[in-house]
Amino acid sequence: MAALTVLIILGVLATIYHSQAQMLPKILERSSSHHTYSISEDVTIFENGKFEVTKPIKVGKSEFYAPEPLLVVSPQEPGSYPVLLFIHGTLISNEDYSDLFQHFASHGFIVVAPKLFSIIYFPSQEDEIEMAASIANWLPTNLQDVLQTRVNEGVEGDLYKLAISGHSRGGKSAFALALGFSQTKLSLKISALIGIDPVAGSSKNDRTQPYVLTYMSNSFNLSIPVTIIGTGYGNQSNFFLQPCAPNLVSHQQFFDECKEGSHFVITDYGHMQMLNDFVYDPVASAVSLVCKSGSGLKSTMRRTLGGIMVAFLDAYFGDEEGEYLAILANPSLAPTNLYVQNKGNFRFPGNYEQV
Ligand SMILES: *[C@@H]1O[C@H](CO)[C@@H](O)[C@H](O)[C@H]1NC(C)=O
Ligand SMILES: *[C@@H]1O[C@H](CO)[C@@H](O)[C@H](O)[C@H]1NC(C)=O
Repeated sequence: MAALTVLIILGVLATIYHSQAQMLPKILERSSSHHTYSISEDVTIFENGKFEVTKPIKVGKSEFYAPEPLLVVSPQEPGSYPVLLFIHGTLISNEDYSDLFQHFASHGFIVVAPKLFSIIYFPSQEDEIEMAASIANWLPTNLQDVLQTRVNEGVEGDLYKLAISGHSRGGKSAFALALGFSQTKLSLKISALIGIDPVAGSSKNDRTQPYVLTYMSNSFNLSIPVTIIGTGYGNQSNFFLQPCAPNLVSHQQFFDECKEGSHFVITDYGHMQMLNDFVYDPVASAVSLVCKSGSGLKSTMRRTLGGIMVAFLDAYFGDEEGEYLAILANPSLAPTNLYVQNKGNFRFPGNYEQV
């Protein structure tokens, strides 16, 4: 009976979502005064990209002066690639995202994903944000050494194209860093932000410090491109449990507070379904059971999420906005149901002023 109710709710939700996805052509019109974009139906982002990628490379704490243990995934072919700093969710090992990273990196990106907890140390979110800031500051001096030693002489990270991202609590930490909440001053500029089902606490009145959400629309003072990718089941409860990404502290609220950006919802999937098929971390696998999940293959979720991340960064970093505009205009190009929403003036290279 409960399952039936949930199904009906989902059906209704999905219908509402899809009916709202019509707002898109607005941005296309606006953009066309600057450029003629070709909207391609031929999307490649949801499949593996053309680059062979490394296996996840583990860098231990203090190795290459790393302030925390890291996972690095990179294309193997010599070249200069944008870098994504990725912050995991609460007590989820960076390794549990490695399949997502490999999909993403195969399109020509380097992922650096720290592990910000250990069996004996669970940092507060405030500490986690400082730790993430110290990793960002480590990149200019040490990433190159890791790449040369562990990947290939000619592989370079392009830190003028640094994006920050995080999942769940890590998604909120990514926003906090981009908004300048860290005490640790960043020695390099973050140029794009991707929130993956970000969560700011268990309810509006029970949020983790620091408070990033303001409950005022368009209040985030961000001058970089932003996308937020949420999950449809994140705000639903499993059995009688609290949802993993409750309303008012999750993706919809984060998007509401952005002045401009895009918002995707992978409607038929839950909060933890972008992790690897097999989750090593015991706490993460327990949390995976607590969060409501859809019945689809996790690989489909990873391809969808990874593909959106690639399309977004290609649009802003690579001057290749065709696939991003294509999925915004036609979310049914994705391998699973996708709802899209956007606001503001999308400034792509050419009309996007880089500071
Ligand atoms: C927004 O951020 C810019 C720097 O990026 C700063 O100069 C400006 O004062 C900030 N505005 C507000 C209202 O905080
Ligand atoms: C989940 O979020 C969606 C969109 O943000 C909303 O329309 C829906 O009512 C929420 N569902 C529940 C169960 O709160």
